[in-house]
Amino acid sequence: MSPTDLQSQALAELTACTDEPALKAWSSKYLGKTGLLTDALKKLGTLPAPERPAYGQAINVVKQALLAAEEMKSAEIAEAGLQKSLATDVVDVTLPGRPLVQGRLHPATQTMRRILSIFADMGFQPYQSRDVETDLNNFELLNMPAEHPARDMWDTFFTTTPGVILRTHTSPGQIHAMKQFCPQPIRVVLPGMCYRFEQISARSEIQFQQVEGLAIGTSITMADLKGTILNFVRRLFGQEREIRFRSSYFPFTEPSIEVDVSWPVVDEASDRLTKGTGWLEIMGAGMIHPTVLTNGGYDPAIHSGFAFGLGPQRIAMLLHGINDIRYFWSNDLAFLEQF
Ligand code: FA5
Repeated sequence: MSPTDLQSQALAELTACTDEPALKAWSSKYLGKTGLLTDALKKLGTLPAPERPAYGQAINVVKQALLAAEEMKSAEIAEAGLQKSLATDVVDVTLPGRPLVQGRLHPATQTMRRILSIFADMGFQPYQSRDVETDLNNFELLNMPAEHPARDMWDTFFTTTPGVILRTHTSPGQIHAMKQFCPQPIRVVLPGMCYRFEQISARSEIQFQQVEGLAIGTSITMADLKGTILNFVRRLFGQEREIRFRSSYFPFTEPSIEVDVSWPVVDEASDRLTKGTGWLEIMGAGMIHPTVLTNGGYDPAIHSGFAFGLGPQRIAMLLHGINDIRYFWSNDLAFLEQF
């Protein structure tokens, strides 16, 4: 086939190509490494020498023409594809948008904020204290010298540094606050994480939050403590929820009490949680022991005060009917998304 015939045949076939795959096949048939144009070029060596330049030139002209035609065709196919998708891929702007997944506060944080806001209404300011504590603040200055048997009430995580521990309760914050504010009156709440090396169960975790309350003045009595707790519980749980005060023992308060809130739902889970009593303990409290007041710099002959330590997780459980404390730090979305 002469170069001109080859060109006419190729251009005729190109008109029939309407998509990318067909164009690709055409390109490899005529312009590819083993294509017809290469074949034609191989013929060059078989021709008599005088004919070769003209033949070579003719093949080159055909090659340029085919390349130009291929480029035009490719642009044509792309444009046709664009027009087609514009005509068919219609965006329905009236469709509702995809809902955005909205983050929210962890139930523990929600409860903590509620608790702090109730105490803020009663004039208690938040006071931050540290998680890593000294044995001195966590025990000794709270009237529990070394070997004091009451230390067994708080199973402790020790660090490799002697005398440095993870706080087992927020009560050491009392010492910090007293030393900072003495001799002024104090009304603070100390929120924070506590750590105890104890058996994990439906009602007890090794890591949990507490809110410590501390009020010091010159005429604070047990009636103030009772009134504050009653007011707090009523605001949080409503007027109907029953609470009870039980006498108890803490080395840093005298007298000491514990406060239980009734758990009205009676089922297997609530039975396990309340140990069959229908009551869940939410806090320990009492009048600050004179020794602790002295350790904080206050004179017990002039000053008196009360303190309490409550468990926000236990409170959230009562508020929402959560029957296992382990849900809080399990990062289970099915649980978290309910709040
Ligand atoms: C204390 O920790 C005392 N510091 C409270 C206190 C403060 C008494 C000031 C007097 C004056 P207790 O160990 O009972 O006490 O803990 C207080 C509250 O923290 C409990 O009522 C409970 O609500 C919560 N709590 C205690 N241990 C755990 C635990 N393992 N998991 C979850 N919550 C807990």
